[in-house]
Amino acid sequence: MMKIFAAPLQGYTDKEFRNAHFSQIGGIEEYYTPFLRLEQGEIREKELSDVDKKRNLSPATVPQILVKNGEELAFFAEKLWNFAGWERMDINFGCPHVPVVKRGYGAGVLEEKNAVKSVLDALVKFPHIHFSVKCRLPEKDEKILQIFQEYALEKIVLHPRKASLQYKGTADKEAFARFLAYGGKNPVVYNGDIHTLEDVPENCEMLMLGRGLLRDPLLARKIAGEKFTIEEENLLYRNFHSTYVKNILSGTKKAEEKLPKLKLFWEYFLLHKEKKIRKKILKSRSFEEYKNYTEELFADF
Ligand SMILES: Cc1cc2nc3c(=O)[nH]c(=O)nc-3n(C[C@H](O)[C@H](O)[C@H](O)COP(=O)(O)O)c2cc1C
Repeated sequence: MMKIFAAPLQGYTDKEFRNAHFSQIGGIEEYYTPFLRLEQGEIREKELSDVDKKRNLSPATVPQILVKNGEELAFFAEKLWNFAGWERMDINFGCPHVPVVKRGYGAGVLEEKNAVKSVLDALVKFPHIHFSVKCRLPEKDEKILQIFQEYALEKIVLHPRKASLQYKGTADKEAFARFLAYGGKNPVVYNGDIHTLEDVPENCEMLMLGRGLLRDPLLARKIAGEKFTIEEENLLYRNFHSTYVKNILSGTKKAEEKLPKLKLFWEYFLLHKEKKIRKKILKSRSFEEYKNYTEELFADF
């Protein structure tokens, strides 16, 4: 049975999205949060609130952290353990954003064997926490990834694309196969460009879905073999959307202020299904317009 995880996407998969998905759709083994990072030595309140256990419906939520050395790893491990007792954490070695990489974070860590080791050597100090890593292909030396198999990790998620490619071209499934064939004790998860069952690489038992799941929140269940009638799909999408909107608006007096956030969601949502009304939703000038267009879309399905 294939295990399917939900990828972190900064700006898209916050707790409002994860909670709506978990409660209305499911089919996901674990939800990874967008990365938490240090800003002037601290974690921002908003980011911390996203990983508050009381505000996350799925107990299988994995906070992700952006660190470049053992000291920072230790800071996050202690902080998140004390804050909410998180026993699972994921380390981001994949962010391709140029300023992040230049500062030696994200995919930048993969260019320095000693930096990778500095982070991973610190893990033994936290035997009560299970760590995983999420990475891209290094620019220079693919073999660097093999270090991950020397440490006790919950899993290694590989998005087989170099950071310099950002999201261009296609994910390199052959590079993934090479890493899988290298073997080792830690399970390896494939991530990148999965939109249908046909996109899943051979011999792959663990998958992480990103943009594919944003487009079609039912993708994990479809890959697992479930079939849906048009009516069933429509109802699930509709309920998922209304729960997401409710989550986004909760605690807000002015729905208008949340319009940009809701529009962002539609950059991917149902991209595979509908074009015309989606475009109108993306251009809506008020929450009222937004509501009318989304209702029109679901009625039209
Ligand atoms: C807008 C955006 C934000 C992302 N934020 C994160 C993040 O916070 N942490 C992370 O590890 N990956 C992040 N990613 C990468 C995705 O998790 C995933 O690895 C990548 O999109 C490839 O998978 P996909 O083709 O299934 O989307 C982000 C990607 C996008 C497009």
